[in-house]
Amino acid sequence: MGASASSVVSDAEMMKSTAIAVGVACVIYLIYKWIVRPVNRVKRLGDLGFYFGEELTGRYKESQIERMKRLRVLGDLPPVYPNGWFCIAESGDIAPKEIKPIIFMGEQLTLIRAESGKVHLINSYCPHLGANFNVGGRVVDGNCVQCPFHGWIFSGETGKCTRIPYSDGTIPEQAKVSTWPVREVNKCIYVWYHCDGHDPEWEIPEIMDITAGNWTYKGRTEHEILCHCQEIPENGADIAHLNYLHLIGVNEGNNITRIQMDKTEPLIKHVWNGKWEAEPEPNQHISAMYLKQFMTVAGIPIPLTYSDLKAIQIGPGIVHMMFDFGFLGRGIVMQHVTPEEPVQQRVRFTMYADLNDAFAKFFLISEANHFERDIYIWTNKRYIKNPLYAKNDGPIGKHRRWFNRFYGENSPRLNRDGSLTNRPISINDW
Ligand SMILES: *[C@@H]1O[C@H](CO)[C@@H](O)[C@H](O)[C@H]1NC(C)=O
Ligand SMILES: *[C@@H]1O[C@H](CO)[C@@H](O)[C@H](O)[C@H]1NC(C)=O
Ligand code: FES
Ligand SMILES: [Fe+2]
Repeated sequence: MGASASSVVSDAEMMKSTAIAVGVACVIYLIYKWIVRPVNRVKRLGDLGFYFGEELTGRYKESQIERMKRLRVLGDLPPVYPNGWFCIAESGDIAPKEIKPIIFMGEQLTLIRAESGKVHLINSYCPHLGANFNVGGRVVDGNCVQCPFHGWIFSGETGKCTRIPYSDGTIPEQAKVSTWPVREVNKCIYVWYHCDGHDPEWEIPEIMDITAGNWTYKGRTEHEILCHCQEIPENGADIAHLNYLHLIGVNEGNNITRIQMDKTEPLIKHVWNGKWEAEPEPNQHISAMYLKQFMTVAGIPIPLTYSDLKAIQIGPGIVHMMFDFGFLGRGIVMQHVTPEEPVQQRVRFTMYADLNDAFAKFFLISEANHFERDIYIWTNKRYIKNPLYAKNDGPIGKHRRWFNRFYGENSPRLNRDGSLTNRPISINDW
């Protein structure tokens, strides 16, 4: 009897310890899954960028954002829409036979993916009676859009009406919507805009390591930001702010009121050796910034914290940030700035690398925290046309002169009343 009692006890204990072991294994597995899951950090307008000293919510927060927009001094802004390729979606956002509403340069556009996989971008308003394809339109006949109002069908390729299902009369000549040039490369979808209707003057370089699958997807971040589109790439040429706004600390995160800027010799410091240069013809649309970065403790560089960063800006809206962490691996963060309104940008970062998943996640999240510090500045600053430069400010002036090449006489400018001098149209409408 004693023997059987003790065996009952040990069975119960056995079950208990098995349950604990299973529980611990589950927790470890969930933590592991969290660590290796690609980052998807999305911050909407008002999630950050305003600092009021308190968390705002609901209707009151919305009214405060409206107020900040109203009271904002924008300064003497450059034209608001530069010429170039801009990212409007990531490839995974749209499957064959799907339709996706796009807002680009203040215009409502419709992106479709044909049955064949090819993407097309057209203006959203139907020339028949003006319905909007984005609300109820669908992909039919391979690569066409069918309007939800009376069922007219337009080719995504040419924009021409191909069929009026209820009418066997002729199709009016003017039954046509505008089409925009698009490219799909590096798992992103881009549109070309030029204020004088010029055809694409350059192409987006393909990253063979992404196409070949050598670098795998490590995650993305997306931010909606109230600022002029030039502020974001200009930040890369602004060397002096790196050792103030981007000081590394333990728990500041993206909260810029917590950064201890009076630390003259912080324990851990990033040291940057910046070099900026524009490429010669025929690649004048490319500029490159080289950064060597390492941490120091009490002035002594720490081995293994060395990294080589090369930020290649390709036109006004694309930056390929290539990084090399030595034996830890290499990769890219593609940084895309897309003007959706004169002073409202959608910024998408996507990361591909051969780094360890946990390290890639740490890297992308810390990048995002630092980027969000910049957002607090951009959201509230005015544009200064002639800054007061000091020694060691970095090549801001050079960057501005280079960036000017993306504007022309006809580039839309923002009037004081909030209207534009002219509306962006597709080069196919010139
Ligand atoms: C991808 O990796 C393979 C095998 O390591 C290598 O042969 C190939 O050159 C790499 N592709 C690119 C584009 O670097
Ligand atoms: C930022 O930090 C300050 C100081 O610690 C704190 O009072 C404030 O609530 C924080 N703000 C946000 C948005 O986290
Ligand atoms: S409004 Fe589009 S078919 Fe009539
Ligand atoms: Fe910055």
